[in-house]
Amino acid sequence: MSVAALKVVKVTKKFGGLAAISDISLEVPEGSLTALIGPNGAGKTTLFNLITNLFPSTSGEMYFCGTSLNRLSPRKIAGLGLIRTFQTARVFPGMTVVENVLAGGHNQVRRNALQQMLWLPSARREERELTAKADAFLDLVGLSRFRRYAATDLPMGAQKLVEVIRALMTRPRMLLLDEPAAGLNDSETAELALLLRAVRNSGVTVMVVEHNMSLVMGIADQVMVLDAGILVASGSPKEIRQDVRVIEAYVGLQEAPA
Ligand SMILES: Nc1ncnc2c1ncn2[C@@H]1O[C@H](COP(=O)(O)OP(=O)(O)OP(=O)(O)O)[C@@H](O)[C@H]1O
Ligand SMILES: [Mg+2]
Repeated sequence: MSVAALKVVKVTKKFGGLAAISDISLEVPEGSLTALIGPNGAGKTTLFNLITNLFPSTSGEMYFCGTSLNRLSPRKIAGLGLIRTFQTARVFPGMTVVENVLAGGHNQVRRNALQQMLWLPSARREERELTAKADAFLDLVGLSRFRRYAATDLPMGAQKLVEVIRALMTRPRMLLLDEPAAGLNDSETAELALLLRAVRNSGVTVMVVEHNMSLVMGIADQVMVLDAGILVASGSPKEIRQDVRVIEAYVGLQEAPA
């Protein structure tokens, strides 16, 4: 039995009087790919914001690989290897595409300030290796030819891919992806699906918020369904497709084959 990568225990978040998240408990097994689905306003992004402590939960506990997240800053949480992307892509303005991707890798580099100033051979070698890795990722998602473009000049879908591979450059233990396929066309979405499977197969735990049902059902090991802040169902893609509560809660699934 492997320990849960992410464990959420009875978490509630109220904004004013309104509960955006109501008493949610869930576990994401290490090495799995979990999809989080649900209608607009269900609380999916809020759950990610709570896990990464962008704002505090009203009550409840969260653990990453057994470590309590409740009192850790977002930066500390990222330092544990729990890395997220945002629903609206957040690329760094004033930087090229490849520089944006490299920014993820630079968090990793354990060179000290003096070494960096002197630009020692080991630092140069690390930089070369990181650049090669960034280029390999860009190639994988079909963005190589844009590597020198300003990242903010890319279409939103491409910016989201840049954010995903920047997250991968940090060598995460777990990725939280908020609607990574939004703005992608069908072939880009298919490439993203392959990338996410490959990431999962490399041992990284993935939790992805996604509205694209064929993407979700094609790649997820387990699917969790949020509706109005309540976790209404979780199970395999097959189980979820057949769950009446899910079909009621989530109009998009009505088109799914029975
Ligand atoms: N910072 C905030 N302050 C007040 N209310 C908020 C805040 N963030 C989210 N909410 C409310 O919490 C509820 C859940 O919003 P959330 O953005 O988590 O939904 P979502 O499932 O991600 O929806 P979508 O699919 O549209 O992205 C909504 O009613 C939203 O208005
Ligand atoms: Mg959202």
